[in-house]
Amino acid sequence: MIVNGTHYRTIWPNPDDRGSIEIIDQRQLPHRFATVSLRRAADCHAAIRDMLVRGAGLIGATAAYGMYLAVREASSGRVQEDIKGASELLKSARPTARNLAWAADRVAAAVADCEDLSTAEEKAFAAANLIADEDARFCNLIGEHGKGLIKAISEKKGGRPVNILTHCNAGWLAFVDYGSATAPIYAARDDGIALHVWVDETRPWNQGAKLTSWELLQEGIDHSLITDNAGGHLMQNGEVDMVIVGTDRATYTGDVANKIGTYLKALAAHDNDIPFYVALPSSTFDWQLSRGSDIPIEIRSGDEITTITGVTKNGTMETISIAPVGTIAVNYSFDVTPARLVTALITERGIVAATEAAIGRMFPDKAGLKRGTAREESS
Ligand code: MRU
Repeated sequence: MIVNGTHYRTIWPNPDDRGSIEIIDQRQLPHRFATVSLRRAADCHAAIRDMLVRGAGLIGATAAYGMYLAVREASSGRVQEDIKGASELLKSARPTARNLAWAADRVAAAVADCEDLSTAEEKAFAAANLIADEDARFCNLIGEHGKGLIKAISEKKGGRPVNILTHCNAGWLAFVDYGSATAPIYAARDDGIALHVWVDETRPWNQGAKLTSWELLQEGIDHSLITDNAGGHLMQNGEVDMVIVGTDRATYTGDVANKIGTYLKALAAHDNDIPFYVALPSSTFDWQLSRGSDIPIEIRSGDEITTITGVTKNGTMETISIAPVGTIAVNYSFDVTPARLVTALITERGIVAATEAAIGRMFPDKAGLKRGTAREESS
C-alpha cells in the first residue's frame, strides 16, 4: 500500500540490518505513522500481545520473524530447545488467530534438522520471508477471485455504486499487503467498478474507525463510518448489497471466528437476504477443528471497554474513562459465525461454499491434515 507516496508492507526485514524487523505501530494510527524495530523474539511477542501489530495474517508473519530472531538468539548446540521456548512464548500472545501457531510451526519445521547456527539462521530467514511473501500473494489472489462477486452486483445495479459492509479491519494492515476482505474491494476499484464501503467502527478497540477508515482514505475509496449497531438498520433499508469480512480462524467445516459483532452482522444479513462473504487465505483454516464452538475466544482487558483513546485538539494522544470508576467490563474479543450463515468463502484458490465437502475439494492437500494423513506443504 502507498502511504505518503511510499510503498509499504506492514512488516519487513531492515535491508541494512539483518537483526532488525520493522513494523508499523498500529496503536498510533490514524494519528501518527510510526515504525518500530523488533530485535528479539520477545519484542515480537510483545508487539502481537499489545496490538502494535494485529490481524490474522500480520500476526502470523510477525510470529514467523519472531522465530527467525529466536534462532539468532539461540546458543550453539541448543537451537532446538531455544526455539521451542520462543515458539511457546509467541503462541501465548493471542489465542484466536490460527496464523500465529501455523507460522511459528512452519519456521520451526524449516530448521528442524539444523544445529549449525548460521545454517539455521539462513533457513529461518528464508522461511519467514516466504510466509510474508505468500501472505501478500494469497491476499492479491483473494482480490482477483472476489472482485467478480462485486462486479456481478454492479451489473445488476446498472453500474450504480455497490454498497459493501465490513467489520473490524481485515485490510492491508491486518496482513502483509492488500488485506483479505479489502482485496476484492481494491481489485474491483482497479477495474473501474463504482463502490461504497460501510465501515463498522468496531468497538472497543475501534479497528474500523481507526484503521479501515484510514486505509480506505489512503486508497481514495468512498466510505462512511457507522456505529456497530447501524448495520441491521441499513440492511433493512436496502443500503447494503453485500457483506465481506475476514476471519482469524476457520474450521474445516466452514465456521468462522472473527471480531466480536461479526455474528450479529451475519444474522442481520441472513434475515435480509444479503450475501455474507468471508475472505481468508488457507493459512487461517484450522484443519484440526470441526466445530466453531471449539475455537478459543480471546478475552482482553476490560479497560479497553471502559476507556477510549484518541487525539486531543492540541495533538496529544490521550486515554480517557467513559464508564464509572469501578465498573467491571468483560471484553470478549471474537465471536463465531456458523457456516450456515456464510454465503461463501473467498480464498486464494477461488470461491468455495462454507461446507466440509466443498472446502475439502478445494484443499485436498490440506484437508488430509485433519486425519493426520497428509503433511502440510508451503502453499
Ligand atoms: O483483534 P484484531 O484487530 O487482531 O482482530 C482482527 C480481526 O478481527 C480481523 O477481522 C481478522 O484478523 C480477520 S482478517 C485478518
